[in-house]
Amino acid sequence: MRILIVGGSGYVGTLMLPWLAAEHEIRVLDLVPPQGDYDHVVGSATDPAALATALEGMDAVVHGAMGFRSEADKGQLDTTSAFEVNVASVYATLEAAHAAGVSRAVLIGSLSVFGNEPAHLIERDVEEDAEPDATNLYGVTKRLAEQVGRIAADAHGMTVTVLRLAFPTPDEIWPRWALPILDEPVQIRRADGTPVPALAGSDLAAAVSAAAARDSSGYDVFHIVGADDSGPRWRTDKARDGLGWVARRR
Ligand SMILES: NC(=O)c1ccc[n+]([C@@H]2O[C@H](COP(=O)([O-])OP(=O)(O)OC[C@H]3O[C@@H](n4cnc5c(N)ncnc54)[C@H](O)[C@@H]3O)[C@@H](O)[C@H]2O)c1
Repeated sequence: MRILIVGGSGYVGTLMLPWLAAEHEIRVLDLVPPQGDYDHVVGSATDPAALATALEGMDAVVHGAMGFRSEADKGQLDTTSAFEVNVASVYATLEAAHAAGVSRAVLIGSLSVFGNEPAHLIERDVEEDAEPDATNLYGVTKRLAEQVGRIAADAHGMTVTVLRLAFPTPDEIWPRWALPILDEPVQIRRADGTPVPALAGSDLAAAVSAAAARDSSGYDVFHIVGADDSGPRWRTDKARDGLGWVARRR
């Protein structure tokens, strides 16, 4: 497939690009060029003209752009940018995709649509059909992005697939999580010491491929997280049944 990755120059985009490029023709739309020799358009996903240029000839679009973190405020998300990029640019991307005849879209979502402190997400069991309940800035914008995706699917007959990720990481770092704002990769652990494996880039790319090729039209959402044999936690049965996806990195 020919797939446009919006926000493909960021942390998550950089994790999955090499794996996706091995199977697909990839183009990136981002404010900055991607790391590596990939076809790309430098521009904003809030700009219809840049989106139209980037979407030309594509079969599917993946939205993985994200608002910036404020260096002055301990890496907190900037509020205006969070709504502009995490929500408004998703709307602009889906509208532009519809106008360009690109009917398949994958939204990079987050398991952070669930829960806030003190009910920390890693301590919770989360079913795939549970109602998102996060009320912090990041979680709210990711919840709204899901709504935008559902509306586009209904209004335009698009196939819109949300992949809710947790702790995406490079394969060579797995099972630790290597978010760039951290000083070094960390092993996420629950309060009882149980490790929470991160999601390897190869597994993420496999999920994105499967979602981009999803057969049934309309909106759907799947949990895409690292393989965790510690018992029922974050359910991924839907991804197994609906996308044929299971985490392979163990
Ligand atoms: N990093 C994680 O651990 C994690 C976990 C779960 C979900 N996610 C999701 O993954 C996605 C990407 O997150 P990330 O961690 O890679 O963020 P990031 O900040 O590393 O990358 C975001 C990218 O978006 C680009 N961007 C920002 N505004 C843009 C605009 N207007 N137009 C085009 N591009 C723009 C940036 O230049 C950057 O390359 C987000 O949807 C996020 O919610 C990330």
